[in-house]
Amino acid sequence: ATGFITLDTGYKNTGATKSSITFLDGELGVLSYRGYPIEQLAEKASFLEVAYLLIYGELPTADQLSNFSNRITKHTNLHENFKKIFDGFPSNAHPMGVLSSLVSSLTAFYPGAIDPDANAEVLDLTIVRLMAKLPTIAAWSYKNSKGQPLMYPKNNLDYVSNFLYMMFALPNQDYVIDPVVVEALNVLLILHADHEQNCSTSTVRIVGSAHASLYSSVAGGINALWGPLHGGANQAVIEMLEAIKNDGGDVKKYIAKAKDKNDNFRLMGFGHRVYKNFDPRAKIIKKACDSVLAKLGVKDPVLEIAKGLEEAALNDDYFKERKLYPNVDFYSGIIYRALGLRTDLFTVMFALGRLPGWIAQWKEMREDNEPIGRPRQVYIGSNTRDFVPIDKRK
Ligand code: SDX
Repeated sequence: ATGFITLDTGYKNTGATKSSITFLDGELGVLSYRGYPIEQLAEKASFLEVAYLLIYGELPTADQLSNFSNRITKHTNLHENFKKIFDGFPSNAHPMGVLSSLVSSLTAFYPGAIDPDANAEVLDLTIVRLMAKLPTIAAWSYKNSKGQPLMYPKNNLDYVSNFLYMMFALPNQDYVIDPVVVEALNVLLILHADHEQNCSTSTVRIVGSAHASLYSSVAGGINALWGPLHGGANQAVIEMLEAIKNDGGDVKKYIAKAKDKNDNFRLMGFGHRVYKNFDPRAKIIKKACDSVLAKLGVKDPVLEIAKGLEEAALNDDYFKERKLYPNVDFYSGIIYRALGLRTDLFTVMFALGRLPGWIAQWKEMREDNEPIGRPRQVYIGSNTRDFVPIDKRK
């Protein structure tokens, strides 16, 4: 059941955003990028292949992929002055805050593309620079927070391996890149790469609709993604699972809390604005969880708690009636943790994955010459009334 609609039948001018990038069907739990099912891309493609597909519309030939990859490799370095910006941050600065500040700063160092049709070369260079520099910014933010030396990118490593190297290598030690970790990260980045008009992507589109640069628009998307109801949920899920574990592991107690309207506790990683069925990404990540932890020989007690919580929720009427299922964030944090990532980096990983989707959606919006975003409102405030002098106010 592909559940695909074709534009000429299902599309009415409802004011909804028109896009040819990602299709998802919340009832069927279907997700595809440019028509390719997410299950096939997660299994067969590399993250850069998927990034190319999202941004340029087609799967790359071998030459196109190696050219795209080589161009990205050439731009992975940051201007040396970025180090002075890092020095200004306290070590406990949340990496998402550092990420959005530094991505905004890219516009100062590398005048970003404003008008894709103004100059195709500038647009393409901006896209390559952003894809190339975000992993470096993310890794240097992490190193800076740990007080460790910043590791420069290595041009002989592939995209994901280079990120891992910059994150975890130290000048005085050999760092061995684990292919299991590289493969797991490729899958996770692909699964997060785009998701049609979600909160952060809509932010990127609306900021870009004012003809702000691609860098500034992506910085806006990073800030939106940081919210715990959105990309910040993967960090909140682990914190929730840890709390359940430390509280004796009684998942039924937390199911009851989530149902209690007087308690504003929500089951993080559950529910979705669109999916009223299983989030197809959650299914893939859950499977990957077992195999990655087994391959890495990691035993994580919160994985068992997660499975118990999922089981209890899926059999509970409150969740069934509201069609609340695990979403992409429910299991992803468990894998990130097994890969050695600190909890406050989980949303950074989400941003690294979502980057090509943000770029593709910004590019589509600008190439379609969409007007500046201006959501309408229904006014429900006071009727017209006269000014009251301050001594007459009650
Ligand atoms: C992402 O849009 C995207 O595509 C986002 C994303 C992407 O790839 O970009 O998929 C990534 O953001 C995934 C979502 C991550 N967030 C979380 O896991 C946070 C926990 N989830 C919720 O806060 C919530 O489910 C949302 C924010 C995701 C969706 O919120 P909605 O649409 O407002 O939920 P709803 O209105 O459909 O809720 C219906 C009912 C309500 O109860 P009633 O008022 O009907 O009694 O379900 C309840 C809600 O209170 N509910 C939950 C719940 N989520 C909804 N109750 C307990 N736990 C939850 N998680």
